[in-house]
Amino acid sequence: MYDIFSNFGYLWVFKNAKIEPMELLDRIKAQASANRRHIVLPEGEEERTMRAADQAIEQGIADITLIGNPEQIRERAADWGLEQIMAGRAKVVDPLDHPKKEAYIELMLQIRQSKGLTPDEAKKLIQNPLYLAVMMIKAGDADGEVAGANNATGDVLRPAFQYVKTKPGVSVVSGAFIMLLKDKHYGENGMMVFADCAVHPDPTAAELAEIAVETGRTTQTIVGMEPRIAMLSFSTKGSAKHPMVDKVVEATRLAQQMAPELKIDGELQADAALVPGIGSKKAPGSKIAGRANVLIFPNLEVGNIAYKLVQRIADAEAIGPILQGMAAPINDLSRGASVSDIVSLIAITACQAQR
Ligand code: ACO
Repeated sequence: MYDIFSNFGYLWVFKNAKIEPMELLDRIKAQASANRRHIVLPEGEEERTMRAADQAIEQGIADITLIGNPEQIRERAADWGLEQIMAGRAKVVDPLDHPKKEAYIELMLQIRQSKGLTPDEAKKLIQNPLYLAVMMIKAGDADGEVAGANNATGDVLRPAFQYVKTKPGVSVVSGAFIMLLKDKHYGENGMMVFADCAVHPDPTAAELAEIAVETGRTTQTIVGMEPRIAMLSFSTKGSAKHPMVDKVVEATRLAQQMAPELKIDGELQADAALVPGIGSKKAPGSKIAGRANVLIFPNLEVGNIAYKLVQRIADAEAIGPILQGMAAPINDLSRGASVSDIVSLIAITACQAQR
């Protein structure tokens, strides 16, 4: 029995490990540092972002590009004593004058001229840091992006959806949260993963199945935990009849087919998924019921409300959203994110980029 993580390729495997939630972020940062990736921060003049960039560089978590007015960034770094940025250890690019902007405009037109994008629109869009960041990634000039300290979710995600798109075999992007619970009886020593809590409002059964499989992969690669995935509903194994229940039943079947190596079961109510006594009564024989450490919600309304309720009422820590299914890692911050939240999301994004 040992409790250090082994890194087999890109998959973290905790062999018989008792995972300590408080160590999780340290482990993620160590993993990011072991094979440093280049993360672009389009809100490069924003105070929390600049402070986080400085810390991420100092801790060796990632190479950083800040997008913003270079003079403004220099002045602010001096005012706030951001030594790494002052020492020129962050790359700074001006969105109004990127040396590769013509090549990026060309690439934008290749991707979206058929959708009606004109050269004039592309020239304007490339000056928007959120578009410039995704084009840097698309062109291979950066490995991942973290944004959202100043911008709404939709504004961060739209350029990513349009230009970076989903990875092969995946049709929807979704958002997972790592939930660190005070009550260690649930999940894996109090650690759980919830999805989709951030992106796709009303998934079909096939999309929900994809979300479950992608969340299983995120659980393996970022949390280092063997996923036991519960597909949640207001019904357990046929206890209620409704088209909404049928969707979850079908999604469970499809997810099991798509990833037979993952442990997935449904449809389960939340209590049947989490409490062994209730799970064995309502879903006898299920390997997941009563032991789930990954919860898949039937739609975004449920997922977003559920994670926020658990975060507030159970005083849980919610790490994320970790966006999954994108062809390159792009993560969206809450506008209330703290400096340490941003450093953590830079580290998570860098780990995703190692895959
Ligand atoms: N995955 C992959 N691609 C997508 C997705 C998705 N989930 N959703 C839309 N797209 C693609 C579309 O196919 C389209 O591509 P195309 O232009 O090449 O045809 C492009 O993105 C734009 O599609 P729209 O339907 O116009 O998308 P829109 O911009 O209206 O909406 C958005 C996308 C903003 C993500 C929307 O689904 C949304 O608002 N989701 C909720 C986000 C949110 O508010 N979450 C809660 C807050 S976050 C939090 O609390 C942690």
